[in-house]
Amino acid sequence: MKHLIIYAHPNPNSFNHAILEKAVEASPNNVIVRDLYQLNFQPNLSWQEFHQSISQQYAEDVTKEHQYWREADVITLIYPLWWMGFPAILKGYLDRVLSYDFAYRNGDIESIGLLTDKKMQQFVTLGNPNEKYERKGFLAAFEHTLGKGLFEFCGISEVQMHYFGDVGLKETDYAAILQEVEQSCREILK
Ligand SMILES: Cc1cc2nc3c(=O)[nH]c(=O)nc-3n(C[C@H](O)[C@H](O)[C@H](O)COP(=O)(O)O)c2cc1C
Repeated sequence: MKHLIIYAHPNPNSFNHAILEKAVEASPNNVIVRDLYQLNFQPNLSWQEFHQSISQQYAEDVTKEHQYWREADVITLIYPLWWMGFPAILKGYLDRVLSYDFAYRNGDIESIGLLTDKKMQQFVTLGNPNEKYERKGFLAAFEHTLGKGLFEFCGISEVQMHYFGDVGLKETDYAAILQEVEQSCREILK
């Protein structure tokens, strides 16, 4: 099983980084990490780039990412929730890398997802408590905007979401979170 981890946090001493380290440790072999801040990934999809992608002309940095996605069986996203969504660098990465004729194409009636041979898991840290976001219906909304809704469009039918709330508080059980990360990686990479 080839594991591709897309990581989006600017601070190498963050808890997100501890999650990344645990996910790497729990990957038996064949793990590739794309650390978007370290790569200084350019996240802006220009109109020209979008148009060129329709005729399968992709930028060099995007072609490189396509190759990593193509080879991966499992894709893991690790990021903090920022303003109810992906950090901008990750949003932009997805804008550019989930390109036409790579991640999806138009069918006669509906779009066709092309990444059908992959599984995904996401580890998302939140400053708020999970219970509050669950009660307000936000976690259910994220299933559409960050999880299944988005990636099913690209053909990925198994998308497991892990929300870790209260990250930053002293009393949060960080060891339990890292244990869940480890267990989830071992399960999905079987
Ligand atoms: C720009 C920014 C926006 C944020 N927006 C949210 C938010 O919408 N909801 C939330 O629960 N926490 C929000 N937070 C808190 C972060 O999610 C939280 O600090 C982070 O997940 C903790 O992980 P870390 O210690 O690895 O950074 C935000 C933090 C920043 C810096």
